[in-house]
Amino acid sequence: MIRLENLTKKFTPTDPPAVDDLSLEIKEGETCVLVGPSGCGKTTTMKMINRLIEPTSGKIYINGEDSSKMDPIKLRLGIGYVIQEIGLFPHMNIAENIATVPRELKWPKEKIWKRVDELLETVGLEPEHFRNRKPKDLSGGQRQRIGVARSMAADPPIMLMDEPFGALDPITRAHLQNEFLRIQKRIKKTIIFVTHDIDEAIKMGDKIAIMRKGKLVQYDSPEDMLSTPANEFVVNLVGGNYSIKRLHLIRVDEIIDRSPFTASPEGTISETKALLDKSKLGLVVITDEKKKVIGLVIPAYLKKEGEYNADIMEETGATVGLGSTLNDALSVMLSSGQGYVIVVDEKERIEGVVTLNGIMGVLQDDD
Ligand SMILES: Nc1ncnc2c1ncn2[C@@H]1O[C@H](COP(=O)(O)OP(=O)(O)O)[C@@H](O)[C@H]1O
Ligand SMILES: [Mg+2]
Repeated sequence: MIRLENLTKKFTPTDPPAVDDLSLEIKEGETCVLVGPSGCGKTTTMKMINRLIEPTSGKIYINGEDSSKMDPIKLRLGIGYVIQEIGLFPHMNIAENIATVPRELKWPKEKIWKRVDELLETVGLEPEHFRNRKPKDLSGGQRQRIGVARSMAADPPIMLMDEPFGALDPITRAHLQNEFLRIQKRIKKTIIFVTHDIDEAIKMGDKIAIMRKGKLVQYDSPEDMLSTPANEFVVNLVGGNYSIKRLHLIRVDEIIDRSPFTASPEGTISETKALLDKSKLGLVVITDEKKKVIGLVIPAYLKKEGEYNADIMEETGATVGLGSTLNDALSVMLSSGQGYVIVVDEKERIEGVVTLNGIMGVLQDDD
């Protein structure tokens, strides 16, 4: 799908090349993550792919076609680009920002505004609420979502994403990563994703390309990168502790207990006690009629006064979405101080439970 062949960029005659004889092939529908320290040539590589920068030497093939022979404007319209600085147009509202490429492509108005709303939904922002706002009225995380939505607007087969979640706090970041993984499962774009965070690379990539000083150091699947790092540089970048790193690779779906006991808030405590006696997990999840999680009961709460679950249950913030990694689940457990997390779908409905024991089991399987 995308093939880089001996790609080199020299900005000046004297400085070492920013990108140095880089060869890389990215298969259709795969996510390739470029990772490496600042200044190693990641952004320059992206800009050469969409011809914002012309290579000094080497070739880029897209679907077998030499990109230097393509019309650069047309080429760029077929490539979604999330730039490192987000780069929303401040004078345009959110809808206009997202609509940039479809407008360029002269889509009919109705189709454009329908698409804008669809994309706002996709990135988890209420269209009604966000359409007419200006970028300055949004938080960093919301702007980053808009940047991602804009890059997907004309449904390009290729996406270049340069540190798309770079400016976010760890929790929002994990959330957006998971959403993006879920979307990608459906849309199957060919993606080049840049990060300087190896954990993000392991989580997001089908393949990881480690770069150093413009050169490719190793190109492998995350599993192979972790188990057989090519050299000292990769070892240092990946860091030790292979088992712990693997938690970024395994999704909660793989160890989820899909049949935890559930009860309604109107259920009686004595029924819940009977369930707890049978429960291996030691908890009963309280859900509403739509299976939405509203709280839980653990044996300790049975001491409280009351007759119905609603009297003794406690709300829980300890939830993660489907598609989260075991590392995400573990972070939630550490911050909630509890040995379990409830896994929910995108509408907060219960999917199951993941326990600390389950995660430990995965770690022990490694030895
Ligand atoms: N327009 C430019 N002119 C001169 N040097 C540049 C230019 N853009 C990038 N560089 C240099 O090329 C190298 C790679 O930069 P970049 O691709 O932005 O790295 P990364 O995205 O990995 O942090 C750096 O040394 C940077 O200073
Ligand atoms: Mg960069």
